[in-house]
Amino acid sequence: MRVVCLLSGSGTNLGALIEAQAHGQLGQATLVGVFSNVPDAFGLERARRANLPTKSLSHREFPTREAFDQAMIDALEDWHPDLVVMAGFMRIVSPAFVAHYAGRLVNIHPSLLPKYKGLDTHRRALEAGDQEAGATVHWVSDALDEGEIIDQIRVPILPNDTVELLQARVLAAEHILYPRVIRSLSQARGQAL
Ligand code: GAR
Repeated sequence: MRVVCLLSGSGTNLGALIEAQAHGQLGQATLVGVFSNVPDAFGLERARRANLPTKSLSHREFPTREAFDQAMIDALEDWHPDLVVMAGFMRIVSPAFVAHYAGRLVNIHPSLLPKYKGLDTHRRALEAGDQEAGATVHWVSDALDEGEIIDQIRVPILPNDTVELLQARVLAAEHILYPRVIRSLSQARGQAL
């Protein structure tokens, strides 16, 4: 299962996938390329250090979301992805992009969906007085953070937690969740073939 990763920032989730692959923990999945809409994203540097092919295109250089997304499809197609993994990819994708990758596009979101779609999830969980938080991997649909849930991971919210502490705890849990999901998707795909 050929996996392409999309990211916009630090790429610690990509780092976890790279580590998992190095330890034989990604099942039949193989990382084949990393794309960013932010040309100086540190995640691209992580990819290069792992000898993964990278590409970037700044969305700022395109007149519309649709034009950028079509250029992104053109860039990704060279890698023949079976699965496109959004890992801290901080852009809403167009319906045409979602349709092109229907059934092949997943995202990780730092909340226990359906709670806290969108941004600022940790602050909102703290302000609501929640006792637990977590992360969700879901199929991407046209509605933001509303696609079918594949798997979730939970962490406690502790007394005196701050946004920073909670964010770090959730991020560490994401690094367990995402490799687990990619491995299991690759196994399910293997059984379907
Ligand atoms: C992660 O917490 C991920 O869940 C979140 O961005 C962070 C990226 O971290 N994604 C979203 O908020 C998507 N709406 P990373 O670059 O270190 O992997």
